[in-house]
Parts: sequence; C-alpha cells; structure tokens
Amino acid sequence: MSAHVIVFGNEKGGTGKSTAAMHVIVALLDQGFRVGSVDLDIRQGTLSRYVENRAQSDRDLKVPNHVRITGDDGVFQQTIEQLSQSVDVIVIDTPGHDSALGVLAHTYADTLITPLNDSFIDMDVLALVDGQSLKIKRPSHYAETVWKQRQVKTMKKAGAFMDWIVMRNRLSHLDARNKREMEVLLEEFSNRMGCRIVSGFGERVIYRELFLKGLTMMDFEGDALSMSHLAARQEVRNLVEAIRNGPNPAKEE
Ligand SMILES: Nc1ncnc2c1ncn2[C@@H]1O[C@H](COP(=O)(O)OP(=O)(O)OP(=O)(O)O)[C@@H](O)[C@H]1O
Ligand SMILES: [Mg+2]
Repeated sequence: MSAHVIVFGNEKGGTGKSTAAMHVIVALLDQGFRVGSVDLDIRQGTLSRYVENRAQSDRDLKVPNHVRITGDDGVFQQTIEQLSQSVDVIVIDTPGHDSALGVLAHTYADTLITPLNDSFIDMDVLALVDGQSLKIKRPSHYAETVWKQRQVKTMKKAGAFMDWIVMRNRLSHLDARNKREMEVLLEEFSNRMGCRIVSGFGERVIYRELFLKGLTMMDFEGDALSMSHLAARQEVRNLVEAIRNGPNPAKEE
C-alpha cells in the first residue's frame, strides 16, 4: 500500500475532526495531490455531507474521491486497499465515540491527528490531570487506545510508524491563562506519549457557515479574502506542513 493515510481521531465528540479533515483534504487537493476520503462516522456522516455539498456547488471545486463506509471491517479494508491504488493520500474521518471501525482505522494511520478544544474538559480525554498540581496522573482511555493501535501497526509491518499530532483547536486570544496551562500540560503529555503538539485553528464563527456550501477557507480568493480568512488559511497550511514535515512525509505526486 503506497498512499499516505491521515486519520482524524478523538473519542470526544465535537472537537473539530470533520472540519479539520475537510480543510486538510482541500489543501492537499490544491497542492496537486490525488486525495481519497473515507467517512467512518456512520451515524452523522458529516464529512460525506460536506463533500456532497461541495460537489453540488455552482463553483467548479475540486472534490476528493469519497467513500462512506456502511459495512464491516472487511469492506473498510478493501476500500483502503482500492483507494490506495489511485490516490496519493487517504484522509479518514472517524466518529466522536468509541467504535470498532474507528479504532481499527488507527492501525492504518501514517499520521493521526487528534483535534482538541483548548479546555481541560477536552484534555481529560487524553489524560487524567491532578486538579491541584496540574500534573498528569495517567493517560486516559483514548490515549491508551492510540498507544495500543500504534503497537498493532508496528507489528503488522516492520518499520511502520504512526506520527501522532495533537492539534489545538478553537484557540482564543482571550483566555491567556488557560492557554498557558494547557500548553504546559500538553508539553508533558507529548513527552510521555510521543506525540507532537501543533497549534491548529483559531476560534472562528465562519467554520460553521462553510459546511452547507461545501466550502473551506482555501476556497476564497481576491476581494473575498478578509484578514481573518488569510490567517485561517495560513493555519490550515501550517497543519498540512506539519503533516508533510513529519517522520512519515506524504509522498509527492
Ligand atoms: N476552529 C473553529 N472555530 C469555530 N468553530 C469550529 C472550529 N472548529 C470546529 N468548529 C465547529 O465545532 C463543531 C464541531 O465540529 P466538527 O463537526 O468538525 O467536530 P467533530 O469532532 O467532527 O464532531 P463529531 O465528534 O461529532 O464527529 C461544528 O459546529 C464546527 O463548525
Ligand atoms: Mg465529525
């Protein structure tokens, strides 16, 4: 299998997996990669609807080769194998709860991206934090799942490696103290768990409006570009750069 697989995963719902997945897909398409996308969120199907909305746009927009999985492990495996024949990168969106397929997807990840809202409630999904000392007591269920699936991946194929990126999402300029405390905790977490921390997207209302039109921050040009769009676009590019500069770089066309 030669395509680079990027999985968006976090057992906590609503952290920005589908939004970030769509933005990375479009940024990669813009960079000339052939992109396949897979939606494992059977219930919500957010990414599938996002791609559908995009395909129906009046504008001539690039769309990924998208598959919505409704079957079992076998169907998923087959889909990945087939897609990897025809695309350079496969982006997989997983549901925001513990699911068998979602867990399995982690074993395919060359890059795993875990978006995390900048709050202790979201942090709790990664690690149990002592409320007094603000030190990490132990990894939480999801972090242990990632750890295990990483091992499964290396057992399946010698030399295989998963680059785990924890992406801080919805960063606000207002709460500097919370931001700093999160920074210290995430630094400790990254040292313990062997993941990279990347500053993701700022808090912007526009993310909610783009979905229905199937648009991303990458689709605005010229006069339609505000300062906020420009900053947001740069954040997406930075994330894609972080993926490409990781120990498992995505292959060039
Ligand atoms: N940077 C951001 N700024 C503002 N709103 C955001 C940002 N990122 C995501 N959102 C909003 O947060 C909500 C959840 O995002 P999204 O659906 O991408 O999360 P998810 O992790 O895929 O959720 P689920 O676990 O339910 O699949 C959406 O309303 C989305 O528009
Ligand atoms: Mg989602």
